[in-house]
Amino acid sequence: TIETGLDGWLRYAALSTALSSTQQRYSSIIVLNTDETSPVYTAGKELQDGLKRILGQKIDIHCQLTSEPSSSIVVGTLDSFSSAGGNTNGIPVLKEDGFWLNTHAGNSCVHIIGQNECGAIYGAFEYLMRLAQGNFAPIASANNPSAPIRWVNQWDNLDGSIERGYAGPSIFFRDGEVMKDMTRISQFARLLSSIRVNAVVVNNVNANPKLFSESNLDGLSRIADAMRPWGVRIGISLYFDSPKEFGGLPTSDPLDPAVNDWWHKITAKVYQKVPDLVGYTIKANSEGQPGPLTYNRTLADGANMFARALKPHGDGVVMYRAFVYNHHLDESVWKHDRANAAVDYFKELDGEFDDNVIVQIKWGPIDFQVREPPSPLLANLRKTKAAIEFQVAQEYLGQQSHFVYMAPLWREILDFDMRIDGGASRIRDIVSGERLGWNRSGYTTVLNIGSDTTWIGHHLSMSNLYAYGRIAWDPLSDPVSIIQEWTRLTFGLDETIVDTITKISMESWPTYENYSGNLGIQTLCDIIYTHYGPSPGSQDGNGWGQWTRANAHSIGMDRTVATGSGNSGQYPPRSLQDLRTSNRPLITFFSVIQHFYDAHYEGAAHAQTFPLEWAKLKGLIDEHRFEHVAFKLQYQAGHALVWRDSVNYFYFAKCGIPDERNRVGNH
Ligand code: GCU
Repeated sequence: TIETGLDGWLRYAALSTALSSTQQRYSSIIVLNTDETSPVYTAGKELQDGLKRILGQKIDIHCQLTSEPSSSIVVGTLDSFSSAGGNTNGIPVLKEDGFWLNTHAGNSCVHIIGQNECGAIYGAFEYLMRLAQGNFAPIASANNPSAPIRWVNQWDNLDGSIERGYAGPSIFFRDGEVMKDMTRISQFARLLSSIRVNAVVVNNVNANPKLFSESNLDGLSRIADAMRPWGVRIGISLYFDSPKEFGGLPTSDPLDPAVNDWWHKITAKVYQKVPDLVGYTIKANSEGQPGPLTYNRTLADGANMFARALKPHGDGVVMYRAFVYNHHLDESVWKHDRANAAVDYFKELDGEFDDNVIVQIKWGPIDFQVREPPSPLLANLRKTKAAIEFQVAQEYLGQQSHFVYMAPLWREILDFDMRIDGGASRIRDIVSGERLGWNRSGYTTVLNIGSDTTWIGHHLSMSNLYAYGRIAWDPLSDPVSIIQEWTRLTFGLDETIVDTITKISMESWPTYENYSGNLGIQTLCDIIYTHYGPSPGSQDGNGWGQWTRANAHSIGMDRTVATGSGNSGQYPPRSLQDLRTSNRPLITFFSVIQHFYDAHYEGAAHAQTFPLEWAKLKGLIDEHRFEHVAFKLQYQAGHALVWRDSVNYFYFAKCGIPDERNRVGNH
């Protein structure tokens, strides 16, 4: 059989008989829910399927706990377990979505007890993924999420294209309509559920109001139905000017009663179709999108309008994106700095957002670059709840033609101490809600899987989705352990496989950084449209504000308060001491040019080792995925040389300073 990648890390490859024969046989799976569309029931089916594939055991499902037979696996919620007479003594307190996994309960039973239905299915996956790694060690542990919001954002358009998607057309939409076939959608939900992601925003943040057509509302209902059995809810992105452009009103002014009425009505209609809608995502006044500022209202006026439309229907939230900036910035003004925008727009509004508004903040102040400091907005909100936005889609990180494992990058950001009001303020504790006492906050990521059988365009890049789920659940998860687990589940238990993929993965971010843009200068790719391939010259001379300000004498932004853009003043003083990258006030060309040359040589040279490392896996993993990754790593190695020379020669041409080691410019 061809390993397509569709099962991702849920292949449940059969363990060797030497291993599987040491594991006890189970007599039954007891599912404490008879509703076949409930996540608890799905968990039971998944256990049945997984145990068959991993251990070769065929086990029946029952729905009664009454006389708990020995060696059974019990899965249910805490409530259903206790009302079925199960003994809940000894189960620690569980948070929303948490679960208790006890593999050595009385009578050699396994207990998988969720705080809610999501928790139950997460526990079932946890148990199966342990077995699939040959891990039979007894465990009795409570698992609780760091934060309630653990979402992903798809940037899918109604026509089936995906903005910054590198894995084929959408699994959600085609030709203006929601897809008829839900197969891939439910397979996708299965993967998300296994990493404890609890919601998907299904359409592009650059949203199309035709999502509100009758047939698309029906379509959304079908998507929600396909995902619900996995405990995954859906949300949608809204186009701010929908009242005007879809509803035929003369304005979309957020303080206009008719506009509010329109949003209330359409929201009620959406809830008729999707009663458990998780909320709305809003990109407004950003990159040409209309928004409240278009109508001389504040961003809070805009966000609250959606919040009030959602309020009567349940726990839905507005994810209001902080990605608001002027993309026609005048570069001749030394003080202009796009990195300032989020704080400039949002800080003064702190306290003005309704309770069900969450501000969604990209992890860095610019735009998912290979290296940035954390967004200073994360240190400037107190009452306004926030979610951090990552990007699994490798928009600026090689677009799934290069491989960059991002868990180390995310950890670096989440571990950073913002020193809010002088007190310990790790970003992971800010977004969990703990530091500032928020009751709803967390994580989201741009994901952009497509209909490709690899899901994401590169088999190795699926490790980023897996890692995202792990880190959002527990931001102290170790990037090395994550990649090892993922590799065992995805490719096999052989040590050479695990070590090789771990090595390539852990080296991938520093390598890519070295050949694409080091010292916090940003990814020196084409900035005008594709965001792919080397084009250092495209950074400057336009209004986008991802400037390097490179000339014959110097490079870098002056971000000091005294003479520059003042960006460093947006960080609490003590946190600044830790910033060593793009917030260097002014990087003089003389001191850095040799470093630039060297780093690009080093990074490109290191990329040459990846295909050689990978070659060790020939014969150890299936041919199909072996060849796919071999091809990608070869391409990356070649393209790294293009990156190296393009960037080095560009700066050599600007400054005329030769490479001390005679590689650049002395031929
Ligand atoms: C980036 C990306 C856009 C996207 C935007 C956003 O700038 O290139 O395609 O629309 O981010 O996050 O809204």
